[in-house]
Amino acid sequence: MAARAPGGLGTQPRRARSARGRAALWLAALAALASGAAGCGPGAEPPGVVTVRLVVWRPDIPEAWERALALFHARHPGIRVVRELGPSSSSELHALLTQKLRNRDRSVDAFIMDVVWAAELALAGWALPLDERLPPAERERFFPAAIEAVTVEGRLYGVPFNTDAGLLYYRKDLLAAAGLEPPETWPELVAHAEAARAAARAAGLPGAAGIYGYSGQFRQYEGLVCNMLEFIRSHGGRLTAPDEPPALAAVAFVRDRIIGGAAPRGALTWAEQESLEVFKSGGAVFLRSWPYAWAVLQDPAQSAVAGRVGIAPLPRFEGGPSTSCLGGWSFGIHRASRHPEQAWAVVRFLTSPEVQRLFAVLAGKAPARRALYADPEVLAANPHFAALRPVFERAVPRPRSPIYPQISYILQRYLHAALSDPASDLPALAQQARRRLERARARLGR
Ligand code: GLC
Repeated sequence: MAARAPGGLGTQPRRARSARGRAALWLAALAALASGAAGCGPGAEPPGVVTVRLVVWRPDIPEAWERALALFHARHPGIRVVRELGPSSSSELHALLTQKLRNRDRSVDAFIMDVVWAAELALAGWALPLDERLPPAERERFFPAAIEAVTVEGRLYGVPFNTDAGLLYYRKDLLAAAGLEPPETWPELVAHAEAARAAARAAGLPGAAGIYGYSGQFRQYEGLVCNMLEFIRSHGGRLTAPDEPPALAAVAFVRDRIIGGAAPRGALTWAEQESLEVFKSGGAVFLRSWPYAWAVLQDPAQSAVAGRVGIAPLPRFEGGPSTSCLGGWSFGIHRASRHPEQAWAVVRFLTSPEVQRLFAVLAGKAPARRALYADPEVLAANPHFAALRPVFERAVPRPRSPIYPQISYILQRYLHAALSDPASDLPALAQQARRRLERARARLGR
């Protein structure tokens, strides 16, 4: 199959244009920063020092990055890493990065990539193959799913940094007040949320009147696909067959019992940050989030609920499997980089056991390297990693495709419309989404 940049396949969706619009603003801001900051532009480095420019999201816990980069610079005096901090939303970072890569912007040497981007970046010719640099014996040290996510047509295009899987965070104090254990099924979660809220009100807990039952990510963006994959798969449905009865029933449940039920309608605008904000300020009984939320929730400086939070696998529907969406991030190298050797030194360092340990301890990131799940420091900071390792290992990937961004956009539009209107005609919307998915695949010729 000829490598084709997905940007060239058909007309661009409206939402993608607006994400791109936001990306343009970020680009302008970054350019202004680079030109205004003396010594930051390429070529301004002292003789013998090479600058590696790394595109990455704005971190929740900056300290982990500061520590890692200080270590790197101390060990590699000939390389200076300059980070270009993009938005934390996967969809918006994707728009920013692909705009740069499409322009063959040489100011990008390396980048962080979401598990769902590798096929697109590889087949567009934007990512450097790394097979020789990370031989098979070394790849075995990572979770197989994380390596698979960056392997495209037999070649490796990234090195895994962290793995992600959806988890259920709950307020231990509120469940205990209602005499309840964490829920096993989604209907139970709705009932537990109601009982815990009533118990909080009866006990006169501060803020009890305003506590929501559930917080999650239902904005129209990549995170919505992850949240809905979990509901749909745990009902025996398939994301890419939205019109089949098990998938329809799961979406109907979320529309009727979660949005406007256990969660407020405002959840339709929440991504990771907003949903975490609600929970960490004591505003919800349950939160669906990724492993990193633990470090934030346990930090008394940031969290009003530190010490009162438990973690469990996500609920399922009766007869279905508890399902966590596979997420996670890897580092790749821009094919047009003028400094691939130095970029590799940075990528190798950032994905090393030492740095994955640091990010696990300081920022709660679940390592992509398997051995770290037996590491005392990692387990001391994240005691739940031991019990939840099987959840990480059996996390379910999103579709792997060079046109994943389009597939995701079609699903996001469908799911958001389906959830937003309490009277939505689900079968009709789902059939329309299915036809759009089929057309996108036909355009790709696969
Ligand atoms: C997390 C996951 C990533 C996913 C994103 C969605 O960052 O690691 O895979 O796409 O959330 O919001």
